[in-house]
Amino acid sequence: MQTENALQSTIDAIVQDGKGLLAADESGGTIAKRFKTIDVESTEENRRAWRTLLLSTPGLGQYVSGVILYEETLGQHADDGEPLPSLAARQGIVPGIKVDTGKIALAHASGDEITQGLDGLAARLEKYKAQGARFAKWRAVYNVSETLPSRLAVQANAESLARYAAICQEAGIVPIVEPEVLMDGGHSIDRCAQVTELVLHEVFHALHRHAVVLEHMLFKPSMVLPGKTYARQAGVEEVAARTVSILGRTVPPAVAGIYFLSGGQTPQEASAHLNAINRTGRRPWPLSFSYGRALQEPPLAAWRGKPENVKAAQQALLERARLNGAAARGCYDA
Ligand code: 13P
Repeated sequence: MQTENALQSTIDAIVQDGKGLLAADESGGTIAKRFKTIDVESTEENRRAWRTLLLSTPGLGQYVSGVILYEETLGQHADDGEPLPSLAARQGIVPGIKVDTGKIALAHASGDEITQGLDGLAARLEKYKAQGARFAKWRAVYNVSETLPSRLAVQANAESLARYAAICQEAGIVPIVEPEVLMDGGHSIDRCAQVTELVLHEVFHALHRHAVVLEHMLFKPSMVLPGKTYARQAGVEEVAARTVSILGRTVPPAVAGIYFLSGGQTPQEASAHLNAINRTGRRPWPLSFSYGRALQEPPLAAWRGKPENVKAAQQALLERARLNGAAARGCYDA
């Protein structure tokens, strides 16, 4: 009962009208890539400075109800010594933690990948909980081609996502289940829709097998989009209609909320798509954002690693968060 109450109160704190999530959980390699675009070295101090900047943005809690952190950040402190998870919580932003340990090639399935991190997960969750984390995230990745992902990759990743989600719920941590169908490649929107439907169907089948309580989890899918290098790019309305149609076929209404990833869309595209999705009529779940790049790119470009740019960077983040908050209500105006 205590665990159920903890799960429900975390869901209630996160799922709020016009609010979404900030994904700031880049692993060591990924944050180094992002910093390279602004000529900043990825040192522990620079990562601390950047994530302190994000979390201390005045007013961010108006549009962001949760933040996904990387393990290192859970143990870091702001300049005044306050732990970063507590700085987030003081802004009304629930701290969460990425718990997968990344992806590797899936054996006997050339071109497919599988996400790792189940061994020892229950023990790690206890540690993260003590550091203030109330929810978690696990990302499965699906490469798309005419033959990928294989049936094996779809099944193996669904099974891992479901095991992760069950372990989290047992620990009183709300799981975010994230199957990302990549937009890299030259596939059509039809192929993306076909793969996404297959993947999501398999994921919810596995969640059911593992008795995951849908009311106490959040779902983080990719949108249905053509591959980046496909010749005919889709219009905003088409992306919205295809995305909502696939979600409607595969995601039970009991799921507490759907929080999209941005996956390489520009900040403007990610907002416009979310807005159009929220204008498509009656849907059973709240549909909002859990963006990494689409929220962080503008402030990162404003910051460039310089203390004198912190204010401008925070303004850029707040503005993007405000626009996505509006998109989550279907009233974004580019
Ligand atoms: P993007 O929005 O940059 O895709 O990041 C979201 C995320 O959490 C990926 O795991």
